[in-house]
Amino acid sequence: MNIAVTGAGYVGLVTGVCLAELGHEVICIDVNEEKIEMLKRGRSPIYEPGLEPLLEKHLDNGRLHFTISPDTAYRKAEIIYIAVGTPQKHDGTVNLDFIMKAAETIPQYIKRDCIICTKSTVPVGTNDKIQRLIHERKPPDVRIDVVSNPEFLREGCAMTDFFNGDRIVIGASSTEAASTIESIYLPLGIPCIKTDIKSAEMIKYASNAFLATKISFINEIAAICEKIGANIEEVTKGIGSDKRIGPHFLQSGIGYGGSCFPKDTQALVQLAGNVQHPFDLLQAVIQVNNRQQSLPVRKAKELLSSLKGKKIALLGLSFKPNTDDIREAASLTIIHELQKEGAAVTAFDPAALPNTLQHLGNSIQYAVTIESALQNADAAIIATEWNEIKHASLDIYEKYMRTAIVIDGRNCYSLKDIQNHNITYISIGRPPIIKKHADQASLNAKEKTYDETTAHLL
Ligand SMILES: NC(=O)c1ccc[n+]([C@@H]2O[C@H](COP(=O)([O-])OP(=O)(O)OC[C@H]3O[C@@H](n4cnc5c(N)ncnc54)[C@H](O)[C@@H]3O)[C@@H](O)[C@H]2O)c1
Repeated sequence: MNIAVTGAGYVGLVTGVCLAELGHEVICIDVNEEKIEMLKRGRSPIYEPGLEPLLEKHLDNGRLHFTISPDTAYRKAEIIYIAVGTPQKHDGTVNLDFIMKAAETIPQYIKRDCIICTKSTVPVGTNDKIQRLIHERKPPDVRIDVVSNPEFLREGCAMTDFFNGDRIVIGASSTEAASTIESIYLPLGIPCIKTDIKSAEMIKYASNAFLATKISFINEIAAICEKIGANIEEVTKGIGSDKRIGPHFLQSGIGYGGSCFPKDTQALVQLAGNVQHPFDLLQAVIQVNNRQQSLPVRKAKELLSSLKGKKIALLGLSFKPNTDDIREAASLTIIHELQKEGAAVTAFDPAALPNTLQHLGNSIQYAVTIESALQNADAAIIATEWNEIKHASLDIYEKYMRTAIVIDGRNCYSLKDIQNHNITYISIGRPPIIKKHADQASLNAKEKTYDETTAHLL
């Protein structure tokens, strides 16, 4: 089919490339000219494993095109996906400006019957608004159906998710339009859930809210584990083995971030409030997550007494591994709070340094290797569980740091491995390991509260 994809970001670009792989003729349109020029040269503006080879393949075979021209993008399209951003406004509500602009533009260039398929995450009722807008502006002799097809891919494994998702949700008022969209995904063999538009929109928000709830829940349990001397990893194994609960999304850490969970949970709280149903549970989930993101700085302060003038190595900047996306990343909260305390930050990340430099400029130092970030550091904070960090030799903390103090916000290392090193190690929901360092003065105060023997017992 002739397919246009509006918005060549994390969702739109992956969708476009994967639809070309399924054999369709795809054209991606974006308002960002620089992005489109890069894509025409076969270069991906985002870091997403597996994306660039398929991008190059389908540019070469002529199945994939990029443009900034709405006329070129829409005139032949049988299906138009919308995957533009729906970011959060300051008051927590969703900014629908980009999607409404796209919905205004598209009908002006449509020349044939087509289906507009919304992938962007939008509050319940938005697709009805889009439908009305399009019907006011479309040529009288063409039929346009609007379908809600929320996206569930995860950055970092978006390509795999496209081809192996758990389900595809299709919300439509026309059975014919729903079947056409279903036929696009048929070769994937993924179950399709066909429903009404409002339920489809709600499925996306409810899914993200539920996953966020699991994360905040386990983080609360982790906090209690720390106080009572239990180990969250043992607890997680125990509860995750219950089939009714399952083991996924139960890793304790410094909370969720990214371009979806924070804004989608806020949007659902707003949506519930608009219909006079205060979503108390989700509000607590958000509150716990906000607290969790600043946990490493609180722990560093507890340990070092004062962070003024201290050099802190921050390992990981992206909101999760295998992406360069730093939107709402815990690392940004950590940097902000460290700077408030007067610490100097040197950050390492395998993919997100350029985005962070663009966002924060020279307010922090950037290191291209873990070793150079650790050089002479008073403490290291791990914010993202990249393989490069998880599989780094533990020797480097002793070798390069001034004092080998590691605050691991993602529980990257086993306590057993750490025990064999002279590293003071504070993780999330697990017993702390306190060691003697050459520069002992800073740790003296802490020794009174942390019992060095606890770690040996566990
Ligand atoms: N990123 C994810 O992991 C993810 C997962 C599921 C759902 N979503 C949802 O998908 C949507 C897109 O997210 P994203 O992360 O891909 O956003 P993004 O910011 O990476 O990309 C959006 C793109 O749309 C372009 N754009 C804006 N207005 C446009 C217009 N009128 N015409 C053409 N292009 C336009 C922007 O220039 C940008 O390149 C959001 O609603 C998001 O909530 C995202």
